[in-house]
Amino acid sequence: MKKFYLTTPIYYVNDEPHIGHTYTTVIADVISRYYKLLGYSAFFLTGTDEHGAKIFEVAKKNNLEPKKYCDKIVEKFKSAWKLLNIEYTNFIRTTDEYHEKTVQFVLEKIHNNGDIYKSNYEGLYCIQCEKFIQEDELVDGVCPDHNVKPVLYKEENYFFKLSKYKNAIFEKIKNNEIEILPETRKNEVLGKLQAGLEDISISRKTLKWGIPLPFDSEQTIYVWIDALINYLSGIDYFKFSNLGFNNKEFWPCDLHLIGKDILWFHSVIWPALLLSLNIPLPKKILAHGFFTIDGKKMSKTLGNVIKPAQLVEQFGVDATRILIVSMFPIGVDGNFSLSEMKDKYNKDLADNFGNLVSRTFGMLNKYFCNKLKTLLPSQILRQEILNCVKNYKTYFEKFELHRVTEVILELTSFANRYVQEKTPWILAKENKIDKLSQVLSDLLYIIKTSSILFFPFMTNISLKILSCFNEDEKDLNENFQTLLRQGQIYIKAEEFSQPEILFKKIQ
Ligand code: MSP
Repeated sequence: MKKFYLTTPIYYVNDEPHIGHTYTTVIADVISRYYKLLGYSAFFLTGTDEHGAKIFEVAKKNNLEPKKYCDKIVEKFKSAWKLLNIEYTNFIRTTDEYHEKTVQFVLEKIHNNGDIYKSNYEGLYCIQCEKFIQEDELVDGVCPDHNVKPVLYKEENYFFKLSKYKNAIFEKIKNNEIEILPETRKNEVLGKLQAGLEDISISRKTLKWGIPLPFDSEQTIYVWIDALINYLSGIDYFKFSNLGFNNKEFWPCDLHLIGKDILWFHSVIWPALLLSLNIPLPKKILAHGFFTIDGKKMSKTLGNVIKPAQLVEQFGVDATRILIVSMFPIGVDGNFSLSEMKDKYNKDLADNFGNLVSRTFGMLNKYFCNKLKTLLPSQILRQEILNCVKNYKTYFEKFELHRVTEVILELTSFANRYVQEKTPWILAKENKIDKLSQVLSDLLYIIKTSSILFFPFMTNISLKILSCFNEDEKDLNENFQTLLRQGQIYIKAEEFSQPEILFKKIQ
């Protein structure tokens, strides 16, 4: 069986999940469901990043022990993912024992390889970014991403020989052994690498909220090193738990999904650690853009943070999922506007797809009392479906999810135009039953096809529609694979049930 291992970043638990986290997680879920439908054994890892100065401080502000504080926020992440129908394989917490053991084991190995040494470090550190920041990156003395003043760190730390791996990583990114998507981001990383690569500090002496270094318990491991290793511990690569995952079988990672802000860690530091460990490198890294809310940066101070539950309340789970991944292309920066989301919901889901389903089933009820021996689809329709499926596959494999949704919606728009052209109500009036059966068969055919194709995005709605064809999730894999291979599906049902209203129009 072919495997597909994909990951989201593990999220800092300094706050509840917002739509930034939701965006990455829904994209991952959609891709994971696609590969599962294709028959892959997909491993989808997500989780939380719980150590470091940032979490320590926020826990203190909340008058809680760090672990207690993390437990509280972790539940919020888990319930948000449940609400959004996210089907992860494992949820890793960096405070899990098997993760901590993995991290220590890995650091011991790298140390034994001679890639770690002790030295003094002095530099500015942004606690909110959890990274060192150069003087020339500051704007008016503050970190431009967080608007906070960095603190001066002066400590004796352990260092990882990152510079040693500069050429190897440059080559591997250049020749796509590690494929960075979109291409513009790849060039950014190559350019930055060319400018130079220094060793990095990987431990903290004064911060106690972290995993102790195995070879010097006076120091804790830098939160980013701890976090990156989750991609190994999450599948229990070194077998420190009894979770029973297939461990190494899933490695190398097929896709790390991240935001553009953390690309350097994933495309340079992470591969360097893996090279030192002599473990194969991840295949692809997809860096999505950052989005603003109504043109402004999302922040607590501005009071424009959108929580996933707010969207679900307005649009429902399935519509939220599809809207969030299709508002703009994954790789670019975009703007989220609730009113644009509402327009898109009305246009694509209520007026286009939803309308097609309700008018078709309405006619099926009115003219055939829900009973119809469907005919094979007309030639013109078969061609439309073939085109749609071909594009669907191409775009999915490039992770261009907004285009994937566009091609399905083009098919359903085609079907809506088809209704107007064929005027089935006139056929019914003139008693042209054969022609009417053909039109309705064609429409049912498109509805079933599009429902199957929509499944990775709108699992509940797809299943609801398929149940009107007397089908359930069991039939889905086979249907999906035949559709993607041959551009065909079959309608076995001769009696149908009526769907409920799927997308109520929002005023
Ligand atoms: N803990 C680290 C990741 C460690 S992975 C080994 C981290 N966490 S985070 O919670 O701050 O961010 C997680 C992800 O959310 C990042 O990929 C980031 O890009 C994404 N987003 C946070 N705010 C966002 C937007 N406003 N827009 C899009 N994505 C954003 O970084």
